[in-house]
Amino acid sequence: MAFPPGFLDELRNRTSLSDVVGRKVMWDQRKSNQAKGDMWAPCPFHQEKTASFHVEDRKGFYYCFGCHKKGDLFSFVQETENVSFVEAVQMLAREAGMPLPERDPRAQEKADHLTLLARATEAASQHFRLQLKTGAAADARAYLEARGLTQPLLDRFEIGFAPAARQGTFDTLRAKGLPEDHLIEAGIASKPDDGGAPYDAFRDRIMFPIRDTRGRILGFGGRAMDPNARAKYLNTRETPLFDKGRALYNHGPAREAAGKGQPLIVAEGYMDVIALVAAGFEAAIAPLGTAITEDQLRLMWRMADEPIIALDGDTAGLRAAMRLIDIALPLLAPGKSLRFALMPPGQDPDDLIASGGPAAMQNVLDAALPMVDLLWRRETEGRVFDSPERRASLDKALGQAVSLIRDSSLKHHYSQALKDMRWQFFRTKPGAKKFRQTESAPRAETAGSALAAGGISEAPMRASLILATLAHHPQLVETFEADLERLDHDTPELQRLAQHLLSHPAATASDLAATLDQENLSKTLENLMGLGHIALQVWIRDPEASDTARACLAEEFAKLAARRGIDHELAEGRDEIASDSTGAHLGWRVKHAVKRMHQTVQPTEERTGDGITTDEMVSRFRDTMNRAATKEKRR
Ligand code: UTP
Ligand code: MN
Repeated sequence: MAFPPGFLDELRNRTSLSDVVGRKVMWDQRKSNQAKGDMWAPCPFHQEKTASFHVEDRKGFYYCFGCHKKGDLFSFVQETENVSFVEAVQMLAREAGMPLPERDPRAQEKADHLTLLARATEAASQHFRLQLKTGAAADARAYLEARGLTQPLLDRFEIGFAPAARQGTFDTLRAKGLPEDHLIEAGIASKPDDGGAPYDAFRDRIMFPIRDTRGRILGFGGRAMDPNARAKYLNTRETPLFDKGRALYNHGPAREAAGKGQPLIVAEGYMDVIALVAAGFEAAIAPLGTAITEDQLRLMWRMADEPIIALDGDTAGLRAAMRLIDIALPLLAPGKSLRFALMPPGQDPDDLIASGGPAAMQNVLDAALPMVDLLWRRETEGRVFDSPERRASLDKALGQAVSLIRDSSLKHHYSQALKDMRWQFFRTKPGAKKFRQTESAPRAETAGSALAAGGISEAPMRASLILATLAHHPQLVETFEADLERLDHDTPELQRLAQHLLSHPAATASDLAATLDQENLSKTLENLMGLGHIALQVWIRDPEASDTARACLAEEFAKLAARRGIDHELAEGRDEIASDSTGAHLGWRVKHAVKRMHQTVQPTEERTGDGITTDEMVSRFRDTMNRAATKEKRR
């Protein structure tokens, strides 16, 4: 804090150094001359019996001839009271009865400027709200109504409409006397590079104002109704008012509700927050079109100890949650953590509340996972850990995550919890058992783990992916009929589903769904779709993704066929090893088979459960996913 010019001099004039020092020392009356302001005392900064500490009151300085400490009024208070310079000034000013300047002049100026910009955003919001009532906004009103936004909700969230005109908002606000500079700086209008007339930043969009906790409108989110618009949502660009990484949608009301004990829910979008509030979850917030930042996490932890992250149940949402773990780990403190509510695949809180009501949302919140569980899932889901190398890489990944935690007590507890989970996990996996047995016979270890690396749970995972795909693209059953007949299934239920697919030709997923219902197989399919490695493949449900479906089926069946050939050779190799009691000999056949298996089935460590790397999956299905997503949102 810088003090205004003259303030410190005035304070020095009003304060006597010897008065201030006199509270800490016993003056040597014989040596001192009060009238001249020439004072001596035993030094307060070092141990002594003689008076070698000298104060020259009129000059405002002190000096010790013993320890050579010297300084003025402020340094004396700083040292003896153990406070900062600013605090020393504040203490002395209070004593001297001098009013403290609020802020330094530059900060004041900046605050004033932000207030002016907020006047512009406030005026824009008023304008947008009025526009929503006009004839030009008939489509917008119909759209909002169709999405369940009643008048009280529109009022509560101050929803408005930016008309399609090129500079309607700009002109109106200029006419109201708002300066052009402010409108541009606040992100309401943009100035073209060619120096032409400024144009409105938002056109033909439904407007969601974003307020901070002090009530200022920082900026807006604008939703297009036209599915072909350049962006579904447009947010105010970064401005002196609007720092996206530090703002939260519905921050103020959510803080209040969280203070009253409502769970703090972090959703992905504006509409999710509104749906949550409408459903009675009033402590709902969202970031503003960007990933959640460190600053936003800190803001959340000021409102609640355990915010619940409720991100969309799609691949992007899951990824965002996984990334958030890494941001959150270093910031964790005792009692401050996150929970993760996993939304059903393809649904966001708005969708879920629309289909299942507040109760459905409450169920998902009740089932929210502690962060350590999600961390475990992130490192293990869809992977097979039946070789020492793979286990070592799991340990390394978990160790790295734990090392991000700064708080030492939490670090310990995380480490412990993950150890327990690891123990549980390997204790119950059949593949792990095989591995442990070989540990007691070290010389057969290599052979044993190589055999076990055949992927115990891999074939059922592939089979389930195949069934899920065919159930959504039944027109492909005919093409893969022979393969489907030969497929092995994990449970009788899945076996029944496969039989049903073979015996009930259907052209579309909905035709098939009707017959599944009659046979009580709908629930089986639903459970299947909920499996982690299937839920992630959002394209499956897209009827237009039949090319992707066909490619996926061809690949999965081919891999299963390769697997069968390998299994056959492995079985013979196993006998070979069994008959070799020393275990020292690893048959050529096994080595060869294992090598081939690793090449055809799992070329790299990072393979996911469905046999393709995440990157491959993303690039291969990006188009399809985008298409599915766009359609989903247009609904
Ligand atoms: P979503 O695409 O999940 O939209 O984006 P939504 O919130 O479910 O909205 P509706 O239901 O389709 O209306 C989530 C958030 O991501 C940001 C917005 O903040 C949005 O609320 N976003 C999305 C953008 O900033 N730009 C976009 O083009 C899309
Ligand atoms: Mn939505």
